[in-house]
Amino acid sequence: MSLKTKIDPNKLPKHVAVIMDGNGRWAKGQGFKRVFGHKRGVDAVRQTVEAATEIGVEALTLFAFSTENWKRPKFEVDTLMSLLVSSLKKEIPTFQKNNIKVQAIGNLEKLPNNAKKQLMEVIELTKNNSNLTLTLALNYGSREEIVNATKIISKKIVNNELKIEEIDENIINSHLYTFTLPVVDFLIRTSGEKRISNFLLWQIAYAELYFTNVLWPDFNKEDFYEAILNYQSRERRFGKISEQVENSNK
Ligand code: IPE
Ligand code: IPE
Ligand code: MG
Repeated sequence: MSLKTKIDPNKLPKHVAVIMDGNGRWAKGQGFKRVFGHKRGVDAVRQTVEAATEIGVEALTLFAFSTENWKRPKFEVDTLMSLLVSSLKKEIPTFQKNNIKVQAIGNLEKLPNNAKKQLMEVIELTKNNSNLTLTLALNYGSREEIVNATKIISKKIVNNELKIEEIDENIINSHLYTFTLPVVDFLIRTSGEKRISNFLLWQIAYAELYFTNVLWPDFNKEDFYEAILNYQSRERRFGKISEQVENSNK
């Protein structure tokens, strides 16, 4: 029986973020070149998107390419970019059928032109969809995002559009790439690595963290449900004590 049946629909994380890691190791382990792992990783993306849609998660954010990933061999970077273009194109009917709204975060200007074009097309086509918001983090780095936000805020101050005294957490939040998204409740990282790798540093301030040894190409719906069940077993206290949290749940 699927673990899905055990999930409490009233205790779902609104926003799940995933560091999809382990494609290269998966491929090496099977005797293939690293890039084959990325190709198989696309299947895991589909499984995860479907699983999140089925249980009713509002927002799913996937770390697909970091600001640091440009340092990889050119062949690997080129393969990742062309996989992005082909997968986005191929998945359009699925996005439409499942009412999925696609968006992207990161410094998108630096993406190759064909990737940018395909991405913008999918974003435009799905913008009125209202089921799951699927956000792809592409050329995304949390530090870059914070630098970018700081520049925009500074310009507003210089132009007298904003006063220094008005800067608060909401102002910072609304200048991040993620400004339309709810805070991250749950962060999943596959492949056994226990680090954040410059992903959503501000946004995960109070997220529950989940690390699994499963390599990304092997990650499937049941793995996602297992992660969600683990999330539901936790007590999120947000600085309070247990009794206060229990009372507020009653
Ligand atoms: C994650 O898998 C995919 C991207 C970072 C684009 P990796 O390619 O990092 O796989 P490992 O960590 O080398 O196994
Ligand atoms: C993080 O994975 C980036 C993505 C999943 C896109 P990496 O494999 O690049 O992370 P590090 O370098 O091992 O920390
Ligand atoms: Mg990796």
